[in-house]
Amino acid sequence: MSFSAKDLLADADFEQPPQVVNTQSQNETDSKDQIALFDSDSDLSEGEMEQLTLSDNNEYPDSQYYLQEKIDHPELNIVKDSSIDSLVELIKTRDFKNIIVMTGAGVSTTVGIPDFRSPETGLYHNLERFNLPSPEDMFDLDYFLYNPEPFYILVKDLYPGKIQPSKTHYFIRLLADKGLLRRHYTQNIDTLERVAGIPDELLVESHGSFHTAHCVGIRDKPGCHKEYSKQYIKEKINAKEVPYCTECGGLVKPDIVFFGEELPQKFFDCYFEDFQKCDLLLVFGTSLTVQPFCNLIDFASIDTPRCLINNRLAGVTGHPRKGFDFSGSFQKYRRDIFYKGNCDDGSTILAKSMGLEDELNELIARESKKFQKPVVNNDENKDDEVKKEETDKKESDEVKTNEDKSNKNNTGEDKINEESKK
Ligand code: OAD
Ligand code: ZN
Repeated sequence: MSFSAKDLLADADFEQPPQVVNTQSQNETDSKDQIALFDSDSDLSEGEMEQLTLSDNNEYPDSQYYLQEKIDHPELNIVKDSSIDSLVELIKTRDFKNIIVMTGAGVSTTVGIPDFRSPETGLYHNLERFNLPSPEDMFDLDYFLYNPEPFYILVKDLYPGKIQPSKTHYFIRLLADKGLLRRHYTQNIDTLERVAGIPDELLVESHGSFHTAHCVGIRDKPGCHKEYSKQYIKEKINAKEVPYCTECGGLVKPDIVFFGEELPQKFFDCYFEDFQKCDLLLVFGTSLTVQPFCNLIDFASIDTPRCLINNRLAGVTGHPRKGFDFSGSFQKYRRDIFYKGNCDDGSTILAKSMGLEDELNELIARESKKFQKPVVNNDENKDDEVKKEETDKKESDEVKTNEDKSNKNNTGEDKINEESKK
């Protein structure tokens, strides 16, 4: 962090953002690695981020210069300060029509899906039983080809079932319905965006999804890429089997992006133009530690307001053109907002500021009906999955009843008969 004021000014005038590449030196990587998923190792601790959110932080040599610049040129303050109230004020005076929403696992924790890195509850803190070299190996392609079993055991619990999306998902859906959503970039693989009704064309599932699966081969033997359905994987997993390709014997992997794999083409087709057009960036429930997704926030133009809604700080780097600057002291414009709290509470505040609170509540009430158990037994209106769940339950109830009956009937004579059969 030793940028001079001159460097800062040069950086602040920077209009053309860098390509989405990893931060390793070009020599260390080949071109394929530049678009592969990888864990960023350069993130700051929470304490360091907190330090950088203080307007008068002395850690940062040029902060006073930048703050003075904003006093001399008040137009550089897009927002008054980093509080959500400042954004609410701005929303009331401006019509945002190209909103980009970026999300991570924190938008689904309120409906019971764990995130990855939260202490204690995060998935990466609960994988001891698998004895992995490191928790991230659960989603590492090389490790998967070497030992696919842990992934399939875990996936049985992760497989998207009949879970109702969170209020935040429905808020994003409402932005789409209103024509205000430019695009929704999600890192999540739980498919709750689709369940909430966000249209495919507005959705970039940056880390893939469980929607489809492909043959990825085995160690030292590339796969044939044959596509498999979600149902195929589900059946194998339920039978506690590893799914193999019927053509070439390779492993069949759901199309979620593993470390070392490329992101979906749609991500690269959309991000550059989207972020140039973006007039408001909302970032929900992510630690912003996985590249290249976390780099996206740097592609919004330098005076576009950006808001992080998360229960802890994320994405602060202290760099003049990378990450958030909630202090307004190391980037040219003051435009970053931090709402420290629950994603769903943040969504409520934002919906209210846009005059959409009632519509959001109505949408949720309407959609909730799809998740309630049907009162009338009208089989024709149920989808296949609901029907299957009901048949499974009926069968298991029947088995249970028969077991109960046989336990009750198991008189001494029966037991003796059984013994003699043996
Ligand atoms: P993380 O678990 O890294 O971060 C989730 C963030 O959300 C954390 O900062 C939490 O504190 C916060 N959080 C949790 N619940 C919240 C709530 N209800 N309200 C507000 N904040 C909340 O998850 P991601 O950032 O999504 O990749 O992780 C990124 C990628 O890392 C994932 O897509 C996954 C993983 O490796 C793959 O699986 C390919
Ligand atoms: Zn194959």
